[in-house]
Amino acid sequence: MKFLLVGDVVGNSGMSILKNNLKEIIKKESIDFCIINGENSASGRGIKEKQYKELLELGADVVTMGNHLYYRKEAAKLYEEEERLLIPANVTNLKGKGSIVVEKNGVKVAVINLLGKVYMGEVNNDFVTCPFKEVKKQLEILKKDSPDYIFLDFHAEATAEKKAMGQYLKEDITCLFGTHTHVQTSDEEIIEGSMAYITDVGMTGPKDSVIGLKTEIALARFVTGEKIKYECSESEPIFNSVIVTTEDNTKKPVSIKRYNI
Ligand SMILES: [Fe+2]
Ligand SMILES: [Fe+2]
Repeated sequence: MKFLLVGDVVGNSGMSILKNNLKEIIKKESIDFCIINGENSASGRGIKEKQYKELLELGADVVTMGNHLYYRKEAAKLYEEEERLLIPANVTNLKGKGSIVVEKNGVKVAVINLLGKVYMGEVNNDFVTCPFKEVKKQLEILKKDSPDYIFLDFHAEATAEKKAMGQYLKEDITCLFGTHTHVQTSDEEIIEGSMAYITDVGMTGPKDSVIGLKTEIALARFVTGEKIKYECSESEPIFNSVIVTTEDNTKKPVSIKRYNI
């Protein structure tokens, strides 16, 4: 099977490159299953029903979130009600699903979403439990559905936290893909022939920006310390993703490749 994993979609710029390309990529690359991180799809902050529905229509099978899940009050209802929308399983102060099993073409694909705890900025760590303990709980819950494949979107800042999680889960899941930094790493690998891994898938959003934000605003905040309200850049988009191919009999990953436009 072929799985397409798309990094944080940022604002109108990110949504537009998906609208122009995603269906074609899915067809051309014979993608069987697509997971998209949508935490910045609504003007860079969070997600609304509009973007969630559009992502599904464009070909996402599951949409994941991250630390931007608190920005929009109306999103709380989506987290509770929308079947294919995940929030990090270790967040304790919002209701929603932290994992899911989707049956597609006779194959059961599980997806887990987790938040890191290291250098996560404004997130109140009091409401985020240990991702290492939480992931084992989620794996236990998923066992009853006997999934053929298990994917984890580990939304975290610190490389070491993601690398450690990769080592922790290398015998348990099909693939760990990192999100959140908006910069794609080039360390994709199949760990010990067992689990596909990449520290960060990257960003699908405005290239001329500071990880999606308007450059002049980001610079002002760093250079002069002015607290100008963040705004999403509307510049030309880039598309960052990886494609993971698995072997049908063993269910093990055989390749992980970065796929960018
Ligand atoms: Fe993000
Ligand atoms: Fe994030």
